[in-house]
Parts: sequence; C-alpha cells; structure tokens
Amino acid sequence: MAYTLTMAVAKGRVLDELQELWIKAGWPWPVASNGRALWFPPSLHAPGLIIARGQDIPMLVQRGIAAFGVVGRDILEEKGASGVLEVLDLGIAHCHLALAARMARWPDGPVRVATKYPRIAQRFFAERQHPIELVALSGSLELAPHIGLAPYIVDIVQTGRTLRQHDLVEVTRIMDSSAWLIANPAFWRTHADARAVYQQLLSAVMSGEMTERDDSLSSPVR
Ligand code: PRP
Repeated sequence: MAYTLTMAVAKGRVLDELQELWIKAGWPWPVASNGRALWFPPSLHAPGLIIARGQDIPMLVQRGIAAFGVVGRDILEEKGASGVLEVLDLGIAHCHLALAARMARWPDGPVRVATKYPRIAQRFFAERQHPIELVALSGSLELAPHIGLAPYIVDIVQTGRTLRQHDLVEVTRIMDSSAWLIANPAFWRTHADARAVYQQLLSAVMSGEMTERDDSLSSPVR
C-alpha cells in the first residue's frame, strides 16, 4: 500500500526512541543521524514524518497538518490535548517530572519554583495547598538553584545524570511520563489508512512487550 498520512514526532528522546518501533512496524527509518531534514513525505513504504518541538505537536495534529503525533505525556498534561485523540501509550521515552533542589527537603513556607512546566507545578502545589511563586524558564533549569533564581525546580528526569552533574537531588516525584500516539479525530474517523498505521504501530508495541516479558521469564529468580 502507498502511505498517505504523516506523523509529527517530538525531537529529542521521543524521536530517538521511536526509531526502533518504527522499524518494527515495518517502515524504513528516514532520519539520518546528524541529518538536518525535518520533513519526510509519506511514501510507498512508510508514513510521512515531521520533526518538531514537543510543545508544538498537539497543535500540528489538532490542525490536521499531521494525522498522528508522538509526544510525551508530560507535554500533553502541560499544554492540554484538546482537539486530539490520545490513542496509544507507546511505552517509550520513559521519564518522570520531579521537584528537585540542592537538598532533599520539602520547602518550609512559600517558595519560588523555576520550571518549564508551570501548569503541572501549579497543580501539584495547589493540591497540597502549598504557596509557591513560579518562575517560568524555557531551559537550563538546573542552573536556577545555583544562581539565586529559585531554590526549587520542577523538571524532567530520565537517567538522573543532569541533576547529579549539577549537585541537585530529587525532593519528590510528581508524575511519570512516556510517549503517546495522538491522532486527529477527523483523520481517525474517516481515513482507512489511519487504522492501518495504528495497527502496525500497535503490533510493534506489543511485540516489544512480549520480548520484555520473555526476557523477564527467562531471567533467573534471585
Ligand atoms: C530534560 C531536562 C534535563 C534532562 C534530564 O531536558 O530538562 O535537562 O532532560 O535528563 P537526564 O535525567 O537523563 O539527565 P530535555 O532533554 O527534555 O531537553 P529540553 O531541555 O530541550 O527540553
């Protein structure tokens, strides 16, 4: 079959980890390492691919620029996902959002928190009725406690390396995240190809889960 649909994928860890699933789904991976191309049209062999910033993916799908999107749950929670369908947890790009600081101590009173996730941070502290002042930063969060901007940060943690390198520790975990497949509702309802693309990705996800289960079954019990 010739593919006609396109998938918008968040650059960074989501794009990196999608490659294996994409290939398992039977599609040749078009992105060259160190390549600068951001758009690969659909072809006889694979859906199209648009590489964009995570925060823009829901909008691209909502407008129908891409039929599908692949984006972290963290972004979906922060930016909202109105006008798109959340169709499948792809089980890749696992990470979590954490409150971090120089010491693993819950703040005593009102506190300043630097983050690029103001909505999630606001909700987290509001649920605990803890007063905070948010400082919106778009990157380099780990600097904030060291330069006197804010003693606490809310940021993504994957390996923990960034926190360790900056002498920061987790105070508490806020939410887990992984990459989700989202879809434009009109494409999803009316486009036969949409179901085919979804089915191929679903099979790829399930084959990965089977392998993980087989691995855990065959590993020795300690
Ligand atoms: C996040 C976060 C840290 C890093 C943590 O940034 O802001 O910098 O990942 O990962 P680690 O625990 O494996 O060290 P991200 O990669 O999302 O890039 P961004 O700053 O462009 O959003």
